[in-house]
Amino acid sequence: MSSETIDWETLRRLRAEFLDASGATGVYWNSQSDLELYHRFFGARIGWKWDAALAQAAHAGWRCRSRKLFDWGCGSGIAALSAIRAIGADAIDEVALWDHSTLATRFARETLQREYPDLNVTIAERPDSGSLQGYLCLASHVLNEMTAADRDGLSELFSTASQVFWVEPGSYDSSRALLDQREALLEAFNPVAPCVCDLPCPMHQEENARHWCHFFGRPPVVAFTDRAWAQFGKMMEIDLRSLPYSFLALDSRALPPAPALEGVSRVLGRPRQYKGYTRVYSCDSNGHNDYELQKRDDKALWKAIKKERCEPLYKWTRIEEGRILSGEPANPVEETPSA
Ligand SMILES: C[S@@+](CC[C@H](N)C(=O)[O-])C[C@H]1O[C@@H](n2cnc3c(N)ncnc32)[C@H](O)[C@@H]1O
Repeated sequence: MSSETIDWETLRRLRAEFLDASGATGVYWNSQSDLELYHRFFGARIGWKWDAALAQAAHAGWRCRSRKLFDWGCGSGIAALSAIRAIGADAIDEVALWDHSTLATRFARETLQREYPDLNVTIAERPDSGSLQGYLCLASHVLNEMTAADRDGLSELFSTASQVFWVEPGSYDSSRALLDQREALLEAFNPVAPCVCDLPCPMHQEENARHWCHFFGRPPVVAFTDRAWAQFGKMMEIDLRSLPYSFLALDSRALPPAPALEGVSRVLGRPRQYKGYTRVYSCDSNGHNDYELQKRDDKALWKAIKKERCEPLYKWTRIEEGRILSGEPANPVEETPSA
């Protein structure tokens, strides 16, 4: 698709649908070309977020434990595509797609089959309670299109799945909505990432009200070298350098637990850099803390944090009065011999 033939009006309309959505949007895919355009730009960018979330989860010990995927609200199919790329098509027997748009499910099936001709890709019937047993359930960028009752219904539906992997845009509202899903699913699931423990999330405490659980991925080089992407960024008023996302990877409590993340902390959002020191918003089993790290206290740690690794897991080995005095990056999988 050359940049001259891109239908910016349709992309603008779709973007407005996504931004204005506040529950029960109804079906907005009007044609196959809506989905092609979406997949080429918005879908691709969501795929970059999935890549970052899947890498971050794998770093924390997440593994696909099922041979069946279910993509709920599949749209053009980017969540399933990204997951299969990360997991490997050989490890999957079946991919089921569900969306209230039949145009979308057909498009997603064709897209997946083009890339993986040997994969069994089906369009699912509307799933009901208990029907997702044994599946790795995927959901992506759906919460703001659902009413509160729909969201409750979705967590109920997912509650019998084997695993859930969920990616949302990384805005305050979507992250908070995803947090509600986490809390609703906690009885049946162990959080594997980004959470480092299975306690109720401290984000709900009043003193943490201005924060939200989000991260930043790294866009691929093409986002900065391709003319169509440059135009897309300008026309849609999206800063392509920034790739915020929120995510949640959960394993059924019936599965053997993923490596324990005891003593590990995750840095949320972006570390904030100041002259000679950094501040990090840290999440661990002690709750949420906004710590200061002076360069002179631990230069190696300060440098590691400044580099903004994609997997922001750390062990703080000495903390005094809100100051990290020493610590190191954590590699839970490498540190767990049986993983
Ligand atoms: C913003 S798109 C995201 C599509 C895809 N998951 C992705 O990440 O690119 C939201 C999708 O959810 C679907 N959707 C929204 N509400 C739904 C519902 N109640 N039941 C089924 N699908 C729904 C829409 O049709 C649309 O395809």
